[in-house]
Amino acid sequence: MPPLTEDAVRQALARVPYPGFSRDIVSFGMVRSVTVEGDRVRVGLLLTTADPAVADQVREAVVAAVSALSGAGAVDVQLQRQGPARLPAAGEAPPPAAAQAPAGPRAAHILGVASGKGGVGKSTVAVNLAVALARQGRRVGFLDADVHGPSAPLMFGLEGQKPYAGDDGHPTPLEAHGVRIMSMGFFVERDNAVIWRGPIVGNFIRQLLLEVDWGELDDLVIDFPPGTGDAQLTISQTIKMTGVVVVSTPNDLALIDALKAIAMFRKVEVPVLGLVENMAWFECPHCQERTDIFGRGLVDRAAAEQEVPILGRIPIDPQVVAESDAGVPVVAARPESAAGRAYTAIAEATLAAAAAGSAPPRPRGIGAFFDRFGKG
Ligand SMILES: Nc1ncnc2c1ncn2[C@@H]1O[C@H](COP(=O)(O)OP(=O)(O)O)[C@@H](O)[C@H]1O
Ligand SMILES: [Mg+2]
Repeated sequence: MPPLTEDAVRQALARVPYPGFSRDIVSFGMVRSVTVEGDRVRVGLLLTTADPAVADQVREAVVAAVSALSGAGAVDVQLQRQGPARLPAAGEAPPPAAAQAPAGPRAAHILGVASGKGGVGKSTVAVNLAVALARQGRRVGFLDADVHGPSAPLMFGLEGQKPYAGDDGHPTPLEAHGVRIMSMGFFVERDNAVIWRGPIVGNFIRQLLLEVDWGELDDLVIDFPPGTGDAQLTISQTIKMTGVVVVSTPNDLALIDALKAIAMFRKVEVPVLGLVENMAWFECPHCQERTDIFGRGLVDRAAAEQEVPILGRIPIDPQVVAESDAGVPVVAARPESAAGRAYTAIAEATLAAAAAGSAPPRPRGIGAFFDRFGKG
């Protein structure tokens, strides 16, 4: 039998996913050391979670993966915990090191907008949420964290513009509709963005969060990419988020993925503020008759099951597409339309949910919901 090698151990560890993610612990940079002495294996892990259950899950998965290798005997896992970088709260003076070190966003609320699937209207919700908050006189920042499909430059009417660096070298966000905006899209050509790999995405997002001169903010809205990947993990471990708004359309495929996103945010201890149902109905522009294109009740049942509120529902409105593409979000273009009012109401409900403070996240399986789902 050939002796066990460190390479073989690392390869086995590269097949251990981080709980809640499809990515493995090696590519996340969590494996800090591997030593093999005879049949004894020692693995050093650096985790950022404060949840002992998650740490235990990782430890057990590592022991199982390594023990299965031929030639492996005792497996010793050493866990080291690293907390998220602490950022000054709103109004608090930055720490002395801030002259060289990143300042980070100083915001009373850091609100993520997430979805399981792409194309459900997440960025449209994020942009309109930000503009609706700004229209209330709040100081609002917008971070477009979707490296593979940055849409903020288009949706805020800023395509082709580049942020400049202030005297201290920190880039300053661009402004539109009263919102300070930072996007991957300002830095990369659209066609280059897709080749970015995990660790680079993480580093870039950290820079956007920490090195950009956001100034004083009431709310920072973060538009996440769809799914449960690098951006979600990096951000939830770099700053303390107030919570996330999860967007879904009322069809089962979108909702299954939305529930996965909810489970993932709860695993990384980010409170889920509520669900937004987008494209909830279509109103005939001629006779005002409402048609529920996808059917009704699915998102309500998911919200009840997950014990999160519905923050709002938005109708299908074909004009929203043209307005988004023209860089004028519907809350600015037509605040009194059904869609405009829906986004404004979502902004209010989101602030209320953020203020209500977030009940400690309770992990809940999504299995129960889908066992019942479909059986009426
Ligand atoms: N309520 C709505 N009515 C009509 N079109 C919408 C609505 N919400 C979003 N859209 C359109 O759907 C497409 C996808 O929306 P987007 O916000 O980019 O989704 P995501 O960020 O989830 O991928 C865009 O063309 C957008 O203008
Ligand atoms: Mg998007």
